[in-house]
Amino acid sequence: MSATATQTVTRFTKPKDLVDFSGITFGDWRDEFHKNGCVVLKGVITPERAQYYREKQLEWLRKFDLGFDENDESTWTAEHLPVSFKGGMYYAYAAPHEKMAWEARTEPGVVEIFEKLWGTKELLCSFDGLNISLPRRKDLNWSPWPHCDQNPERKGMQAVQGLLNFAPNGPKDGGLMLMKGSANLFDEFFSQKREAGDHEDAPPPELKYMDLFLFNPKDLKWFEDRGCEMIKVNMEPGDFVLWDSRTMHYASLPEGEQIRHVQYICMTPRKFASEEQLELKTECFNKFIGTTHWPHCNIRPATEPPMRSGVVCPKNRNEPFEKPELTEQVLRLAGVKEY
Ligand SMILES: [Fe+2]
Repeated sequence: MSATATQTVTRFTKPKDLVDFSGITFGDWRDEFHKNGCVVLKGVITPERAQYYREKQLEWLRKFDLGFDENDESTWTAEHLPVSFKGGMYYAYAAPHEKMAWEARTEPGVVEIFEKLWGTKELLCSFDGLNISLPRRKDLNWSPWPHCDQNPERKGMQAVQGLLNFAPNGPKDGGLMLMKGSANLFDEFFSQKREAGDHEDAPPPELKYMDLFLFNPKDLKWFEDRGCEMIKVNMEPGDFVLWDSRTMHYASLPEGEQIRHVQYICMTPRKFASEEQLELKTECFNKFIGTTHWPHCNIRPATEPPMRSGVVCPKNRNEPFEKPELTEQVLRLAGVKEY
């Protein structure tokens, strides 16, 4: 084979996104989003609504009757809390279907973001978890886990992720770290064979289409060398951050005084979903089961019970403390009802 032919084989061609936004100027936050793969939207809900959600989240922790008291730091330990992932992400206990979670998903300002982004009102919402991270936890083993939530085999922009922030979130308050600009380099990065990072949270290899890829420390440099920057997203109560699922990211632990309060919310067009995925989504909704960040596919029912000291947490539950109101909007976003 000639040298010219070899170069042709290795040349990278950018694949098409599911919706092609290239070459369009919107004159609003969407331009920044498509350029950087992320954007912060200010004041999507009022500070009063944000406070309502903070109180609801604390009330939710107290309902487990494990002795948690937000005013007594000695109770900010695993034994006084339901089981979480990475020091504060709650996906079990039917948390994704608590009334407060669906209220947050249907906040007019939140829905509007996704309608505008995708150019349709016919959306599906993920059955995602919430995050309540207590600062200065002494009982946690934690390490950064830079990852993206899109399988490298899926090309182009196929999903976006978001979080609605309820508490003041400054430099010391932990939270979302994003590799700004990495989404647009995703397909180029994965045009070569890449080994996933060896991390305690790495998915088992048999879950081929699990949409999680853990990066190696050297991969950060690959992105930085191409102009990307790892940033800590600072937010005020009521702000929303939106990122392309190809963006490298992780959450840092809070080290200041402030408890971190977040609801993860992702929406994509219903037309992306197959009938099979919609049926599975309906089943999960009816049984109060959480899934992944993905609203239209990768509907992986999170049926694994929370484990505490090697056994199922005695506080495990299969329905929310407060069930959501089954409005038309909720049923449509859940994929249960057609538009
Ligand atoms: Fe993630």
